[in-house]
Amino acid sequence: MNDRLPAIQEELEAHGQSHVLAFFDELDPKRQAALLDQVDAINFDELQALIETYVLNKPTIELPDSLEPAPFYCRPDDPQHANQYDVAEYRRIGEQLLGEGKVAAFTVAGGQGTRLGWNGPKGTYPATPVTGKPLFQVFAEQIRAAQNKYGVTIPWYIMTSPINDADTRRFITDNNCFGLPRKNIFMFPQGVMPTLSADDGKLLLASKHEIAVHPDGHGGAIKALRTSGAIEDMAGRGVEHISYFQIDNPLAKVVDPLFLGLHTAAPDTSSEVSSKMVTKAYPEEKVGVFCKVNGKVAVVEYSDLPQKLAEQRDESGVLRFNAGSIAIHLFGVSFVEQLTADADHFGLPFHRAEKKAAYVDTASGEVVNPANPNAIKLETFVFDALPLAQQSIVFETTRDEFAPIKNASGVDSPASSHEVQSERNARWLESHGVKVPRTRNGKVDATIEISPLTAMEQADLPVAELPETVAAGSVLSL
Ligand code: UD1
Repeated sequence: MNDRLPAIQEELEAHGQSHVLAFFDELDPKRQAALLDQVDAINFDELQALIETYVLNKPTIELPDSLEPAPFYCRPDDPQHANQYDVAEYRRIGEQLLGEGKVAAFTVAGGQGTRLGWNGPKGTYPATPVTGKPLFQVFAEQIRAAQNKYGVTIPWYIMTSPINDADTRRFITDNNCFGLPRKNIFMFPQGVMPTLSADDGKLLLASKHEIAVHPDGHGGAIKALRTSGAIEDMAGRGVEHISYFQIDNPLAKVVDPLFLGLHTAAPDTSSEVSSKMVTKAYPEEKVGVFCKVNGKVAVVEYSDLPQKLAEQRDESGVLRFNAGSIAIHLFGVSFVEQLTADADHFGLPFHRAEKKAAYVDTASGEVVNPANPNAIKLETFVFDALPLAQQSIVFETTRDEFAPIKNASGVDSPASSHEVQSERNARWLESHGVKVPRTRNGKVDATIEISPLTAMEQADLPVAELPETVAAGSVLSL
């Protein structure tokens, strides 16, 4: 069984990683085999190069002097749009694509959600302010509503990770797929990367028989769409465009006709990849910023944008780099096919993150839970695919589409997300003449939830069934 052991030992030794087998002799044959499989799957020459670049050295992010804000199509409620595009026409184009079944929904849900401290896949987190619907249910209901509206099937692709795949599948099937046919949901795990010691690039052990790994970042979605067979499945269904959003944002629209219309028909689109933005709330907001780098649209991550640029303002006082990414994109199926034609050799650039990772101390055999970051995790970011397109457009939406749940408290927390959800819902009601109580500083003084099955947008609300007023401090679920 262990015929391969000598060769593996030699390889590990050549790369200074022999400690991986420190407990090998103690393991039962099954675990020995599993560990050898894990080692076998690693390309050590490639890993060595990554360790040199990202662990033993810290690559500096070189932003070109020519960095400029990216142009964008402004919000349909901004009067400026009239000079830019015909809202009704692009919306019609998008609705046609939807009606023809050419659009799939795609949720990336492979992250570890460590900041939220939720013990389970983030999609199982109760996200809505009144009924506490889990994120997966929020999106399933949106898909059902969109299917009813456009009279088609909208297949749903969900990227998990090997760490949360089984729990995710169980949750979705145990809940009867929240009313969607199981055959129209395609779940697949993304890839992983080994977690490395920040001191010397050594592989960390998660247990005596297991190398520590982490999901390879949402950039892994591009490759995983191909290797999982999802892209083939889409092509078989006649899907041409993928509506990409993150699991952490309950207000993300699963499909958006106007955005689809611009993505496929705007004069400067190549229909390969398009993105949604919101104007930043404040300079330090933790959102990537759309820029133009060497003539191509790209996202510069918040942590890479120098403070000086983040704070720069134009003559009218508006932030110069103001186009915040809310991580909502449209990808052409053919673009993903083209990028991954040689899937083995396709990969987006890695980014380095210093994180805390529990590991087994090879001297004592004990699990260590470090108090400070001890590990380097390498991840790829999906927005690094933008500059690979011939042309890529950016479309501004309102902050009504952005209520992420990332942290346990404070900014981007369940509490802040509930506030944004209630606020959006209040405005929808007010637009139909409902009196909504507000505090002196203008905040909604009620908790309001609107199910996607009741209304996907303001205009869908059943006017005849709406209350005349909402009582102060009350809780309302429509
Ligand atoms: C992300 C974006 C940021 C954007 C913001 C909007 C990055 C690096 N930054 O920030 O530009 O403005 O969202 O909310 O993405 N995920 C996977 N697999 C992984 C890692 C993440 O599926 O391996 C998914 C998570 O489940 C989550 C999403 O990607 O849905 C976001 O990942 P996260 O690492 O939390 O990014 P942010 O720092 O929040």
